[in-house]
Amino acid sequence: MKLWGGRFETGVNEQANDFHSSLAFDKRLYKQDIKGSMAHAEMLGKQGIIPKEDATAICASLAEILADIESGALQIQDAEDIHSFMEAELTARIGKTGGRLHTGRSRNDQVALDMRMYVKDEIDEIKALLFRFLQKHLDTARDHVNTIMPSFTHLQKAQPITLAHHIMAYLQMFRRDYERLEDCRKRVDIMPLGSGALAATVYPIDREFVRERLGFSAISENSLDAVSDRDFCIELVAALSIIMTHLSRFCEEIIIWASEEFSFVTVSDAYSTGSSIMPQKKNPDMAELIRGKTGRVYGNLMGLLTMMKSLPLAYNKDMQEDKEAVFNAIDTTKICLAVFTGMFEELKFNKERMYTSACGGYTNATDAADWLVKKGVTFREAHEIIGKLVLYAIGEKKPLGELSLGEFKKISELFDETIYPAISAQVCVNARNIAGGPAESAVNAAIANAEKYLEGLKNA
Ligand code: ARG
Repeated sequence: MKLWGGRFETGVNEQANDFHSSLAFDKRLYKQDIKGSMAHAEMLGKQGIIPKEDATAICASLAEILADIESGALQIQDAEDIHSFMEAELTARIGKTGGRLHTGRSRNDQVALDMRMYVKDEIDEIKALLFRFLQKHLDTARDHVNTIMPSFTHLQKAQPITLAHHIMAYLQMFRRDYERLEDCRKRVDIMPLGSGALAATVYPIDREFVRERLGFSAISENSLDAVSDRDFCIELVAALSIIMTHLSRFCEEIIIWASEEFSFVTVSDAYSTGSSIMPQKKNPDMAELIRGKTGRVYGNLMGLLTMMKSLPLAYNKDMQEDKEAVFNAIDTTKICLAVFTGMFEELKFNKERMYTSACGGYTNATDAADWLVKKGVTFREAHEIIGKLVLYAIGEKKPLGELSLGEFKKISELFDETIYPAISAQVCVNARNIAGGPAESAVNAAIANAEKYLEGLKNA
């Protein structure tokens, strides 16, 4: 059944008909569509816009349709979109009365409503996934406040830090992601129904009643904007893109760390795959795939931005393209978060290897320079002296701590015995005890803050 046959003399070309149908993908909005329609019908009845008994019959039938879809008794098919499908099904079940449902409503405000309801629910699910993920970060950090590892810039060893500090860096990123979703949700949480096609409606509808029934926090304030706004889709997919950026960075590190050259971590068998030809292989495929899937979420963001660019007000059919982009970005991010969390939970960290690595590569050179600064040398001079010392040590194939005092003194007379304890990896880490630093005390403070934050979310 078409919702708009009256003014047409011929049917739509078959290919064009398939081309413009959105049912294949918008059928996943069935629950939102039904809930929205029930609230609308109830309101129409309450306001005396349609007979009360008709509203009751519509709501009862919609409830049955929902149950039949969920039980598998009813297939969603043979319609232009989910909205047409519902009206056709309703009319098939209760006759002409079904035709009263669309009073004072357009598919334009209906689809905006459905999408907002859907996105709100999905944001809540993604938040739950992020919450579990953040908790895993905390657990790992707590276990590794004394696990020394090298940090890197340019993928070259920099200074010793701890694994806890490294993991807590990711916690900060994913916490911002959580907050971004919460913030985005505020702007999704606006009820557009009542905007009609674009110029609202002549019927004395009660938008506040519908808002309250559907659990929105406010109603939209401009009917043109309400039916043509897809900022909330763009914002969501932008937030998901940033989540994927963070996941891809973490994946990249796991891939590098799992290489034999690094050997910082072992990815469990459950999250690895083998090679069809090389029997020895165990590849971190899940991390690579998540890294790769980041591209499609970015693609969805670009698609949405480009689709909305230059559209005149108000609704344009271009906007039907929002759905696949939003759905794909949501599905992809959710599965990536879930798989990554599972992989993370089974990750084994090779503490000894991390420690040995942290002690190589002259990661304590800055601390040696800082030791000279304490003796009154300017930092710039100290930098120059330690640079020479490192060059000498490289030639001798020794770490700084294995040079004799005589060798130190050859570079600068200022050196004495106290240089040795000052440049051990533990001291290098724990001397950095200012807020935000890698020292045990500072990381414990960051962990306590994060615990408080997560506790607050639980109680929210
Ligand atoms: N399937 C359409 C969409 O997803 C529903 C709105 C159709 N409205 C219209 N006037 N053609 O955007």
